[in-house]
This record gives sequence, C-alpha cells and structure tokens, in this order.
Amino acid sequence: MSDLADRLQQLQTDALAELAVAADAQAVDSLRASLFGRSGRLTVLVRGLAEEDPAERPATGKVANAVRDALEAALTARQAAIAEAEGAVPLSGEASDMSAPGRPWRVGHLHPTMTVERDLREIFHAFGFEVFEGPEIETDAMNFEALNIPPDHPSRDLWDTLYVAEAGGDPRQPAADGTILRTHTSPVQIRAMRALTPPIRVITPGRCFRYEAVDASHGFEFFQVEGLVVDRDTSLADLKGMLEEFARALYGEATRTRFRPGYYPFTEPSVAFDVSCLVCGGSGCAACGRSGWMTILGAGMVHPAVLRAGGIDPEEFQGYAFGMGLDRITLLRHGIPDLRLLMSADMRFLEQFPAGR
Ligand code: PHE
Repeated sequence: MSDLADRLQQLQTDALAELAVAADAQAVDSLRASLFGRSGRLTVLVRGLAEEDPAERPATGKVANAVRDALEAALTARQAAIAEAEGAVPLSGEASDMSAPGRPWRVGHLHPTMTVERDLREIFHAFGFEVFEGPEIETDAMNFEALNIPPDHPSRDLWDTLYVAEAGGDPRQPAADGTILRTHTSPVQIRAMRALTPPIRVITPGRCFRYEAVDASHGFEFFQVEGLVVDRDTSLADLKGMLEEFARALYGEATRTRFRPGYYPFTEPSVAFDVSCLVCGGSGCAACGRSGWMTILGAGMVHPAVLRAGGIDPEEFQGYAFGMGLDRITLLRHGIPDLRLLMSADMRFLEQFPAGR
C-alpha cells in the first residue's frame, strides 16, 4: 500500500473519532468543512493522487473513494441523529417554556343585532315558522307594485328609496328596470307565496335600506324580520294571539300588549302592535314619550291584491303578515343610546357584547 493510501485511511480513523465527540449540528458542520472544503484535509490528500506512481494510482484511488464515501455516510447519519434529538428535547433554554401562561386567543362573536335575529328565529321556529330569505337588491315591481303600492301612491313617502343606477350610466339616474335596494322585507312575502304552496308559515329576516338622514335613531341600513302566514281560515284573532305569545317569549311573561289601528297598503286591516315600555315598565318615561307603550311592529291581514300578486286566490285563502325592526330591539336590550354605534364596526363597542346577550 502506498504512503498516500495509508494517510487516507488514517484520516478516516481520525475523522470518525472527531465525529464521535461532535456535540451538535454546528460541530458536525465544521468537521465536514475541515474534510471536504477547498483546502480540507481529504481534498488536499485526494489532490495528491496526481503525483502518485501510475502503478499505484488505481489502488490508491479506490481507497480515496472508499474513505470519502465512509465519511460522507457517517457525517449524514450523525447529523440526522442530532436533528432528531434537538426536536424532541428541550424543556429548557430558549426553545419553549411549557409552563408559560397561554396567550389569549381572540375569537369573533355575533353582532348584537344578529343575536337578536337568532333569538327571533328560535322563537318563531317554536311557533312552527320556517325561514325564507329574499334578495337585498329588488325591483320597484316587487318592493312596491306587488304590495299594492302603485307608482304615484302617496304612501310611497313612507319608504324613502335608494335607487340603483344603470351599469355604466349616469349614477344619479335610476335604472330603467326599476332596480332598487329593498326598503323593507315585505317583497319577500310575494316571493314566498310564489315559491310555496299554502299553508305557508315563514319568517324572512334580512337587511333593508332607506334614503334617510342618519341620526341617533335613523340609519340608511337596518334589519327587519317579516312574518307571513297563509292558510284557508286564518284570522286577525290568530295574528293577535300569536303576537301576544311572541312578545312574552321575547320580553318576559309580565309584558303587556295592545293593538292600535294602523295603515299599510299591503294589509287590510292594518295594526300597530305595542308592548308596555321596556324601560319604565309602563309608568311613563322619556324613552316611551311618557305614554308607557312602545310600538314594536306593524301587522295586518294580507290585502287580497297582494295575495293575488303572489299567485294565491283570495277567495280560497287568507293571510296575516307582520314586520319588525331588529335594530331598535337591540338598542333597548342593551341600553345603547345611539343607533350609529351598531354599524360603526368599532371593536371597543362590539367587544362589549360577547356571545349572546
Ligand atoms: N313593511 C312594513 C314596514 O316596513 C312592516 C309591515 C310588514 C307591516 C308586514 C305590515 C305587514 O314598516
């Protein structure tokens, strides 16, 4: 064996001994560099092959290859072992402190108005109502005409409308097809009557829009829950009994209720439904204008023209409907003084109403 072959084998022995005491990944890395680097110990020896006696060169070359392969394999195995050990070990040092208190995990929650909506869904579910939803973008025909409100009817003043402009057209001109943002959930009555066959018993929760000057008690977007019942012999007495139960389910058994005459073009007769003031209980305060009562919804027997627009024969079927705003229910529930807070998306406000009430 040549002198060079001897030195190669000696290097292997030395390097393996050094590797055995390499404590961490860094030590293995520097050992690798000291062997395989540009002026590394193995590199330098292999370079010496060029001066080897041509008769010895093939045998020495074989030794060089074997040494290189053995060292490569040993370094790689040691590196893998260290990596595995480091992953499993440290309960100390910088890695992680298992005894540290956890970081609070921020979880979202329902908006207080949506909590009210869920409560209403639950109450009406117990009364046998199913949920039927309609679009926020409607047509004049659905929002007004099908509800017995012709184009020049003065009652249109009750609903200040946001019109949708023609795509690409003058933004101040309403679209010719009468596209609008719905001003109430009542057009969903028509959609429900057209989609379902009586007996119908639905509530239709949803967002509505009106062209309003925004102040503490008026917003340009708000939420309603509409109710519709169509059956062969349903009556105003059914509506009355159902709403009285509803008010007690929402506000408690002690709640007193009353009906007053009202006016809506799509119901006849129409009523306003009041509950005893939720702030003073009925003795009279600023919140109820000293009357002791608060109006929480409008309702009535579905007008025959509206049944007909929904494809239902008014000779055969009758219906009642009611509609209420959720935002005021929310304000009263939490004693919130200003409607604008509900739409503010201000976390300092919203975080005061975690899970539920
Ligand atoms: N749509 C009416 C409103 O926006 C409420 C209502 C619904 C009244 C159904 C009667 C029947 O105020």
